[in-house]
This record gives sequence, C-alpha cells and structure tokens, in this order.
Amino acid sequence: MTLEQLTKDVQTIAIICNQWGDSGKGKFVDYFAEWADVIVRGTGGNNAGHTIVTNCKKRIFHLVPSGILHKDKINILGNGTVIDLEVLVGELDELTRGGITYNNLMISEDAHVILPYHVKRDIKRNASQKKGAIGSTGRGIGPCYADKIARRGIMIRDLFNKDILAKKIGKAKEYYQEQDIDIEYIVEELGLYAERIKPFVRDTISEMHEFIRHGKKILLEGAQGLLLSIEFGTYPYVTSSDSSVNGVAAGVGLSAKVVDLPLGIVKFPYMTRVGAGPFPTEFGGAKSEGYCASGLEHDIKYELKNYRISFEEKNGSIEYNYHDPKIIELMNSNKPFLQGIGIRLAGEEYGATTGRPRRTGWTDLAALKYAIGINGPNIILTKADVVQGANEIKLGTGYNNSENFTRDSERLRSYKPEYQQFPGFKEDISQIKDYKDLPDNLRGSINFLERYTGAGVRIISTGPDRNQTIIKDL
Ligand code: GDP
Ligand code: IMO
Ligand code: MG
Repeated sequence: MTLEQLTKDVQTIAIICNQWGDSGKGKFVDYFAEWADVIVRGTGGNNAGHTIVTNCKKRIFHLVPSGILHKDKINILGNGTVIDLEVLVGELDELTRGGITYNNLMISEDAHVILPYHVKRDIKRNASQKKGAIGSTGRGIGPCYADKIARRGIMIRDLFNKDILAKKIGKAKEYYQEQDIDIEYIVEELGLYAERIKPFVRDTISEMHEFIRHGKKILLEGAQGLLLSIEFGTYPYVTSSDSSVNGVAAGVGLSAKVVDLPLGIVKFPYMTRVGAGPFPTEFGGAKSEGYCASGLEHDIKYELKNYRISFEEKNGSIEYNYHDPKIIELMNSNKPFLQGIGIRLAGEEYGATTGRPRRTGWTDLAALKYAIGINGPNIILTKADVVQGANEIKLGTGYNNSENFTRDSERLRSYKPEYQQFPGFKEDISQIKDYKDLPDNLRGSINFLERYTGAGVRIISTGPDRNQTIIKDL
C-alpha cells in the first residue's frame, strides 16, 4: 500500500503511543508532516523528547511540534500543553542557529505556564526514584497541571496583563510556602518572555475549528504514551495529562471523533519504560528497575565502558556499532538482566530528555490489547531492526493469574508474564522497502500480534530515518 492509499479521505491523523512513551512519535510526526497542513501538540510539555533524523542529522524537540522543520506548515502548541517559556525560547533560538525559521508557529493563549516554583517542587518531590519517588522528568509538569486543575494556574494569556499575573503568582505563593517566591522578579522575567512569544499567541481553539471547516489536513502530535496517561495508565506511576487520543484531541480543541486515523505506535518486539512503575515483561525485573533508578550513574557511557564496547565521541554525541558482537552476545545472554542491557545498547535506549537508561522488556501484547481499546486498532511498529541477531523473540501474552492487563499498579507488579516464543532473524532489515521482503520469522511474530490483539499493523519502521518506513498492505 502507498501513503496516498493509507491517507485517502483522511482529514485528521493522530500520532500517539500505545506504551510508556519513546516509541518514535517524533519520527512519525515528521513523516506525516509532509501530508499535513497543520501540526498540533495537545498534551504534556518539555517532559517529552521527540527525535527526528533527517539526512543523518538528529534533532530532539521537547516542546516545539515535530513538524517545525516543514516551514510551509502551521505548527501549534495547543491549549492542553504546559509551557516552560525559558525552554520554549531556548528551542526557538536553537532553530534560528540551525537556519530554520518559525513564522509558522502558533501558541495557544489557553496553555498553562510552567514556573520556576513548579520545577523546584517537582525536582524535590517527584524526580528522585532512588528516594522512592516516581522518577518524573523534573520539568515541573505535575505541579503545573495540579495548579491548572486546582484553578490557580497561570495561562499564556495572563502573561500580557501584569496586574493579573502578580495577583495570580501571589495566590500561588500560598501553595509553595517552602519556597521563597519573589513575585516582582518573576513578573519582570515573564514580561521579557511574553514580548518574545507575543507574535505567535492566538486563540488556537478557534483557529483549529476554522482549519477543520476549511478542509485543512490536521496532524495531532501526542506526547508520552497510553500507559503513562493520567486517565488510563498505571496510576500513580503516570504523567499528569491524558496521553491517549482523547487527551490529544481535547488538548487542541477538538473531539476525538474527528480523528479519522489515530495511529498508535508500538515498539516491537521489545518495549521500554523510564521512571518507576510496574513493567511485567521487564528483562531482569526488580533488579533492572533498581539499576535504572540510579539514572545517570548508569548512563550510556557507563554501560559502553562497563561492557567494553568501543565508541567514539563526536561533537558531544556518542557513536558506536549497534550490532557490535559484544552487544549481540549480551542480547542473547541467558541472564535476563544482561539481555536487557544488550537490547538497551542495541536500541540506544537512553532518555531523549534526561539521558536516563530506559528499562527494557519484551513487548507486552496484553497491555497492547488494552491500549488499542482506547487508541483504536491502527498501529505502527517501530524498532524491530534493533533485535537483528537475537536468537529468539518473545511476546507477552498475558499473565500467570490473568489474561488481561490491569491499571492497578500494585496488582500488576505481582503478575508474572507468559510468553509466546519465536525464532529471531539475522538479516539486516534497515534498507528493506517491501513488507514481503522482511524475514519470515519477523512476519510470523507480526501476524501473531495482529491475531492476538485484533490490531492492524499499517506501518513498520526499520530505522530512525524518515525513509526507513514500510507501509504494509491491508
Ligand atoms: P518519541 O518520544 O516517541 O518521539 O521517541 P524518542 O525520540 O524518545 O525515542 C525513539 C528513538 O528511536 C529515537 O532515537 C528515534 O530516532 C529512534 N527510532 C524511531 N524509529 C526507529 C526504528 O524503527 N528503528 C530504530 N533503530 N530507531 C528508531
Ligand atoms: P515522550 O513524549 C517516556 C515519564 C517519566 C515518569 C512519569 C512522570 O518522549 O514519549 P513527568 O515528568 O511527566 O511528571 O513524569 O512519566 N515520562 C515519560 N516517559 N517518554 C516521555 O515522553 C515521558 N514523559 C514523561 O519518566 O516516569
Ligand atoms: Mg521521547
């Protein structure tokens, strides 16, 4: 099938994740941006890290929509997002340095603003997994959304009225008594940022309604993943917004009903999680969770050195051979903890926002079956190229005591996964363009996923680059 056939009669597409995030949303927003007229983020803030690779150049966006490189397309930060102005302005400056213009940007006047006191509280209370917290990204997301829900949040539109701003920050002060908040200083500083973003601020909800009426093609960019959703995820080990298709639609001023094609991304045949929380299929279970909780102590450099894998540092980035024989050996270890490290190295699974090692495990089909109940049956598979050389592939098919996934984190922690096993493949799939040319073993496991979950695989991604994308025949 071609991209034209997949998008025939489609006005609105959503790119969302059916797992715990980091599945390739950035790649696919960039991919579908060519098709779209308007690209909109609806949830989250700079807790997200969305990677785009074009012509071997890697860019990571935290806040700005991943369609921004397409300068003839409108890119919007929607009403449901939370915006740290310093980070936003930093990203805009970075674009300028890269020679990219952004006159195509709109920022919702209804979005909420992350303030320094949100960040401080988040770091103190939520970020340290070692101290028993959930391991948030420490970007102030939870406290900012908490203020929004408690009706004391500061919105983008407030930035343009100093009196309202001072009054609101004064009120917020009561809730952040552990901090020494200097209202005047914050108002002054916000004023500078406000001037900078003023040309882009709009009533984006009304703009979206106009775009829909005029038949513009809309691409919604999800953040995080269904299992991290405040509504549908493994609460309390979740983020503070609804990362499902419902949340992203609401977060841009639309109903999920208008999304003609929600595409839920699934890492396959392994998946990842960053931060604390249950993960039944995790390689090495609690040992891996504890090891990854140390965050940057066990970052990419530590693991490469520890397992004696040669690497080079070039302009601040680390380069190594993902298929290094030592990595393949780890991936095929009979010790699951080491197997998890092998997959992490082969997939370069280190947080795009925090650099923390991502926990790894086989893809849990019971969790996926649950996720598609909300996000719909159309899915994209990413990262299968990573397991090239693995002797076997396993897929989670439920648990010893239940066939179904549960959002109840404590119960889920006690679940022991059951697996269906498949032989691995040795072929390099990164340049394959046709579904039928993928190794039989891989296609066998994909057929199994479709039968087990009832989902339909629409696209298979075989590498980080835009053109490493196979559209599957229906
Ligand atoms: P996002 O948060 O969902 O946008 O995902 P991240 O950018 O945090 O993490 C996904 C990583 O996988 C990025 O480094 C991408 O460049 C990379 N990636 C995306 N699709 C593929 C794929 O099919 N294969 C490989 N090897 N890497 C991929
Ligand atoms: P993208 O969009 C993976 C996780 C954090 C933590 C929990 C709460 O790149 O897929 P928060 O800072 O949101 O309060 O942290 O959610 N988390 C993510 N994990 N990908 C993300 O975004 C994430 N955003 C938040 O690690 O466990
Ligand atoms: Mg990410």
